[in-house]
Amino acid sequence: MELRSFVLCNETGDEVCISNYGARLLQWHTDVGHEDRNIILGYANLSDYLDDPFYHGAIAGPFANRIGGAEFTIDGKTYELQANEGRHHLHGGKDSISDMYWDIVAQEEQVLTLKCEVPDGFNGYPGGLHFWVTYHLNNDSSLDVDIKVTTEQATVIGPTTHPYFNLAGVGNDAEGHVLQIFADNYTPVDHQNIPTGEIADVSDTPFDFRQPRQLDSEREQLDHNFVMARPATESQAILISPDKKLQLHVSSAYPGLQVYTGEFLSGKFEPFGGICLEPQFYPNSPNEEAFPFFYTTPDEPFNMRISYKLVKNVEQNLDTSEEAESAGEDAGGE
Ligand code: GLA
Repeated sequence: MELRSFVLCNETGDEVCISNYGARLLQWHTDVGHEDRNIILGYANLSDYLDDPFYHGAIAGPFANRIGGAEFTIDGKTYELQANEGRHHLHGGKDSISDMYWDIVAQEEQVLTLKCEVPDGFNGYPGGLHFWVTYHLNNDSSLDVDIKVTTEQATVIGPTTHPYFNLAGVGNDAEGHVLQIFADNYTPVDHQNIPTGEIADVSDTPFDFRQPRQLDSEREQLDHNFVMARPATESQAILISPDKKLQLHVSSAYPGLQVYTGEFLSGKFEPFGGICLEPQFYPNSPNEEAFPFFYTTPDEPFNMRISYKLVKNVEQNLDTSEEAESAGEDAGGE
């Protein structure tokens, strides 16, 4: 199949670029005080995505993040997944949906729908699985990513979006972003990044981002899952550009959010050159009874919306006390 990219434009000057390879989000251009910024890190050449090890802009899955021991059990039957990170399973395994060509199902000026399928047993997953992803670029500078998955038998599904954001604009230093995460808890991991099963309080830990805080790449090597405290109708995390002129608000109905500050980036990319905000089930949740999770079945397809919304020129509202927040919402028109 031919490697292609598609551009969506809204009425307020945003442009997003999406590829049929991995249904990847390649670029998002937005106007910040008459300056055009592309806020998504990626390759200059489209063909470089074909051997990208970093999941740039990809839809990761069928189950994003890690499944410990690369196995899970449904109705007493254990399924062995492909182990692609030591003995564990990461982002659906090798050559998964992030590294496949997707079909274009529908294209309009502000909407693009892509589809792909994998057979039963693909990388160990019970299936067959049918994935649809629809990107909607709205006039309020939000991008909704709707993911739908149907299956022919009960299975484990939990895909996510994997763009690396640099709100300073790609080409500019990503140092100095401010992050706020509305999470009172996170899920600690062992030395192989598999959750210990504990749901821990962020108080008095480096994972307390309840008040906005500047990320320091020397200190903040984040690759952790946070427990979302707010419903999908509210912003669950906010990333703020180093110059404070641009905010990115993230929300979804997923119970967790992986925040990954890009420490493993290399080659064409600087470590910490972009920040991933990946809504998800908690890692390894199919194997942890205390973690929220639901199976996808032929009768209950998987449906999830992940929303990224840009809010501009809100410098004065960085104070996130309740009063400042509601003032920000009025100004931002949310
Ligand atoms: C996720 C993981 C990271 C890393 C990246 C891809 O965010 O949590 O550990 O594997 O994907 O490089």
